[in-house]
Amino acid sequence: SDAELDRRIQAAKDRLGSDLVIMGHHYQRDDVIRFADYTGDSLELARIAQRQRDAKAIVFCGVHFMAETADILTTEEQQVILPDMKAGCSMADMADIDELEEAWEVIEDLYGDTVLPITYVNSTAAIKAFVGRHGGTTCTSTNAPGVLKWAFSRKKRVLFLPDQHLGRNTAFEMGIPLSEMAVWNPVAGEWEEVDGPMDQMRVLLWKGHCSVHTKFTTDQIRRWREKDPEMRIIVHPECTFDVVQAADDSGSTSYIIRRIAESAQGSRWAVGTEINLVQRLAKQHPDKTVKLLSETMCPCLTMNRIDRPHLLWALESLAEKQLVNQVRVDSETARWAKTALDRMLAIK
Ligand code: 13P
Ligand code: SF4
Repeated sequence: SDAELDRRIQAAKDRLGSDLVIMGHHYQRDDVIRFADYTGDSLELARIAQRQRDAKAIVFCGVHFMAETADILTTEEQQVILPDMKAGCSMADMADIDELEEAWEVIEDLYGDTVLPITYVNSTAAIKAFVGRHGGTTCTSTNAPGVLKWAFSRKKRVLFLPDQHLGRNTAFEMGIPLSEMAVWNPVAGEWEEVDGPMDQMRVLLWKGHCSVHTKFTTDQIRRWREKDPEMRIIVHPECTFDVVQAADDSGSTSYIIRRIAESAQGSRWAVGTEINLVQRLAKQHPDKTVKLLSETMCPCLTMNRIDRPHLLWALESLAEKQLVNQVRVDSETARWAKTALDRMLAIK
């Protein structure tokens, strides 16, 4: 039963004591995140992982790339455990290291040494390592504007991967027009959405996207506005350009949480992000109206793979000194990926 699962999870957690830290991303289910010692968005969780020096094991309730980041930022001896190895991220899977090597050749032929690669943390350790080796860095949805500013202070152009939407939305916000952005299609091996000569392009976007956030549409926004003109629309920057432009506000998961928490009593919000977070915000703010932007549920299926049975199995295995589902990045990849992550963490 659920009560039995809760009791056993808590018991295993108690047995492990300070040897264990459980981290949970904001998109995790309520019944899992309630056991987390730390919760946060991907930037906060990376910073928290970096500070863990006592815990022997970190059980990461999130997706694979986040656990990889935690492994890279912790010591050799510390173990990072992902309760279900199938908890990946479809966006991270859209940038493959071989495709990036090929794209980079095309980019170097076109632009020489004028491009800095930036990868959203929603990418594999191999992609982060490539970026680290080429002088670039990582970003999250929280610090993307600061990171792009940093990049443009170094090079004329940026290759942004894997999320074209976060890249386009952030660059546009900084004042770069769409006519200076081109999209690289790694499957076809060609440029798309080119509106001008190639030498005019400053933001080279990888053709990747989040399958959850691209389900939000401008029609949904229009319907809310017709039904309830008081509703304020806030969306994650992984949504498409049109959706972000039509919304009242946009930002990372932490930004959305803060904006709603700080809004006046009685405020009304329609939120374009993962359903677990939206439902939690609605429960935490009974004095406000918090609704999902779309009429249909928008779960991140891979985030939701981490459920109580998987968490229990990971914790009981650890308590019995069995190492299961360790996420381990090989040392050469980790070294360069850490170079990229450390650069990001140093950008204010
Ligand atoms: P945050 O950087 O806002 O935590 O987002 C991570 C993510 O995967 C959003 O889909
Ligand atoms: Fe990946 Fe989208 Fe899920 Fe975030 S919400 S983990 S980007 S698939």
